[in-house]
Amino acid sequence: MSLFVLICMQILFLSGAGHANSKPPESRIIPLHYPALYPESIAWDDGLGCFISGSMALGSLFSITENGTVEEFIQDIDYSRITATLGVTIDSHRQRILTVINNVFDNPSGFHGVACYDLNSKARLFLAKFDKQAWPNDITVDRISGFAFVTDSANDVIYKVSQSGEASEFVKDPLFKSQSIVAVDPAAVRSGLNGITFAEDYLLVIQSNSGKLFKVTLHDHHVHVVDMDECLVAADGISMRKDGLLIVVSTDMLWLVKSRDHWDSAFVVQEVPLDRSFNATSVTFRDPKYAIIAHAYFQDIFTIPNKGMDGLPGGQFRPVFSLQEVQLVGDPDNDPIWLIMIGVIFLVIFGAYKLQMWWFFKKYNQLKKDY
Ligand SMILES: *[C@@H]1O[C@H](CO)[C@@H](O)[C@H](O)[C@H]1NC(C)=O
Ligand SMILES: *[C@@H]1O[C@H](CO)[C@@H](O)[C@H](O)[C@H]1NC(C)=O
Repeated sequence: MSLFVLICMQILFLSGAGHANSKPPESRIIPLHYPALYPESIAWDDGLGCFISGSMALGSLFSITENGTVEEFIQDIDYSRITATLGVTIDSHRQRILTVINNVFDNPSGFHGVACYDLNSKARLFLAKFDKQAWPNDITVDRISGFAFVTDSANDVIYKVSQSGEASEFVKDPLFKSQSIVAVDPAAVRSGLNGITFAEDYLLVIQSNSGKLFKVTLHDHHVHVVDMDECLVAADGISMRKDGLLIVVSTDMLWLVKSRDHWDSAFVVQEVPLDRSFNATSVTFRDPKYAIIAHAYFQDIFTIPNKGMDGLPGGQFRPVFSLQEVQLVGDPDNDPIWLIMIGVIFLVIFGAYKLQMWWFFKKYNQLKKDY
């Protein structure tokens, strides 16, 4: 009987393991008809009921409805049409929106920094400027303190920006510089720390060129390389799902990553190949069942002859962009298949027990009859 149960468990286990990747996930493209949008970063806000994106060419903030209607949300004369807006994050707790400003095209009147606005009045709350040699990319906010944390992809530094807009270096650790480079694409090789998100009392930060995920504790600035079997090569944007699973995108792949030990270690739960011609850079959630990926087409902007903001609005910039909705699996620990398996195993053991009892009584009755 025990062998029988073992075989049953084996079969069930195999079917359970195959369950997550059995069929390709649903995927849907939402076109964005907005010339030169180049949305490098995107964030969903429940309060506004729309996505907010930055723009590599236009440098404002844009609202995008779930069906793809794009409108300029915030324009700022200090940098719109001058620099790019990269990372975007919403501090729903304080009703603020923050964006990273990056002088991607070395515009003489441009600068690097972070701008913060009131979500309702759209009034600017602060504009923090960084050093010339900085290369700020993505941003997240600590819900408790209101501090913003910004990755620098060229220098492997994380900056901290206070609620009043004072910027300082938060962490610069030798571990950021000592990882082996696994990326092949030149843009990814040059890019160090990239996507950043906040969880519990630490930050999770991805490094594009090494494909490594770091955990940085807020109170002691301690940096830990998250122990993973997989390398998230050329990873860019990251986003935390409500159930604590992390979604990571590169231009080639989407990974759903889970940790059971507060991100000391982690493993990949789902992998979805992406079409690299979209140059996907960021990911967010409206509904936990679907990842929403922004197609930035960044390659395109660097190959336009009259590069930068000059010449806008011209016919030379890409007219249509897109979002991609990709269906995700649930948390494997809460997968109903496990409950079903436990139920089946219980029934098998119970059935075997019953069968044995039946045999026993049959034999017993026979013996009784014989004597
Ligand atoms: C698109 O979304 C907006 C706002 O969510 C809505 O007003 C509009 O009717 C939608 N359009 C279509 C074609 O569904
Ligand atoms: C970006 O997209 C272009 C085509 O649009 C493709 O040739 C290139 O390989 C992509 N780059 C990356 C890094 O995915």
